[in-house]
Amino acid sequence: MALRCGRACQQYLLHLAQDNIDFRLPEIKALLSLRGKQFCPEENFKEKSPFWLLNGVSEEDVRGLMERTVCAKSAFELWGQGRTHNELQSSLRKYPLEKMAPFTQRESTYKINVYTFNKTLVFQERIKKIDTLEFLPFQGKVSLKNPDHIFFLLEDYGSDPNNIPDEPLHVYFGRWIADGQRELIRSHSVKKRHFIGNTSMEAGLSFIMANHARVKAHDLVCDPFVGSGSLLVACSHFGAYVCGTDIDYNIVHGIGKASRKNQKWRGPDENIRANLRQYGTEHLYIDVLVSDSSKAIWREGPLFDAVVTDPPYGIRESTRRTGSQKEIGKPPEDLSGESHVPVSMVYQLSDIFTDLLRFAAHYLVMGGRLVYWLPVYRPEYRDEIVPQHPCLRLVSNCEQTLSSHTSRRLITMEKVKEVEDSDELALLLDSRFRPYRGHNAFREKYFSGVSKRRGKAEQSSSSDGGTDPQSE
Ligand SMILES: C[S@@+](CC[C@H](N)C(=O)[O-])C[C@H]1O[C@@H](n2cnc3c(N)ncnc32)[C@H](O)[C@@H]1O
Repeated sequence: MALRCGRACQQYLLHLAQDNIDFRLPEIKALLSLRGKQFCPEENFKEKSPFWLLNGVSEEDVRGLMERTVCAKSAFELWGQGRTHNELQSSLRKYPLEKMAPFTQRESTYKINVYTFNKTLVFQERIKKIDTLEFLPFQGKVSLKNPDHIFFLLEDYGSDPNNIPDEPLHVYFGRWIADGQRELIRSHSVKKRHFIGNTSMEAGLSFIMANHARVKAHDLVCDPFVGSGSLLVACSHFGAYVCGTDIDYNIVHGIGKASRKNQKWRGPDENIRANLRQYGTEHLYIDVLVSDSSKAIWREGPLFDAVVTDPPYGIRESTRRTGSQKEIGKPPEDLSGESHVPVSMVYQLSDIFTDLLRFAAHYLVMGGRLVYWLPVYRPEYRDEIVPQHPCLRLVSNCEQTLSSHTSRRLITMEKVKEVEDSDELALLLDSRFRPYRGHNAFREKYFSGVSKRRGKAEQSSSSDGGTDPQSE
């Protein structure tokens, strides 16, 4: 499609990473909505493509987006595109000269890079492609080392590595604007983190969760199942004040058995505060408390801008809540070692999610978001089993496959109304809000085919060497 628009409809091109594919659209939508903008897909929009066009946004919006996204690699001001190089060239000839002018001046230097998706080109082939763009009105000198402006010719050879076409399926040309925050995945890798737990969330997904939650500077964010605080690390990176609770005394106080190989006990100062200090966000650390998330401890009323959390699924750690000796009827267990939950009883997964949604509905500010993981036994999955609450609207539901028969879904909900008595009644009486009990046997379902899918689970486990997912 040729580009025929003026300044008002400037298009931008996003180049997206090909991991966590399901999480990309909700991330980009959430980040654009933070700027009051919407993602307006093209008619033939392909969600799995590495290239998306952005319409109806400004360069400032795009820069703001790139300051946050971990799903997009780079963004470009689109000058032309086409299914063939001929189409690209005629599209480029239609791009207004006055829009090119600020970047083609005699005084400024430039360079052109060639990027190919799903194909590798040798140097000479790249040079040949650049030569076809000779007609562009560049007046300045080429500088390969330190150009004022960088341009990209991007070629898309499809997504099938076993069937790479000779010619690209689509080509784009544009001015590079900014890179995304993929570097955070490396810099915040759990491998190099001061304090980790058995289920520390990998860096990439932690940042994606913070983005789905639309966490921003000066927000107050709570993780009610805080563990080693990976989600607080990500949220504080975006400027939010962070706090959390965990039922496990040892993890909150950073004592007990270490989660790293070759280390028996946690060392001094292995705690969440030290993690934030490691990344320069200690000033945003409020505190973490030993507390059972099923029990209310917070002042009544809207308090948090976001609740971002990874509840236990009972694979690597038990799902427990506190109870009285009368309720439990047997002596407390597990008083030493890895976790320490003093007087506890089984906490069914269905109750965990019901309580979590109720917590979010009560304590989120209006428009605030709840982002959490829901473990799913795939053969039984239906959209209806995703927990609902009358005050929370489902925003997105993205699947991360763990094995052929299990996955977890990243659920994002937004508070749309304050809780009234009638909502409490609806939770009890309305079948839509009845908890799906099938979640409760997740542990048994998970282990039912463990040997078959061990290899795959290991593959899908954290790409940055973290100890998450809550699998194995
Ligand atoms: C999957 S882990 C969270 C991992 C965390 N996101 C991290 O990066 O380390 C779940 C946590 O929930 C805690 N937990 C389990 N039951 C709880 C309860 N009833 N109330 C609060 N925390 C609980 C566990 O101790 C565990 O640390």
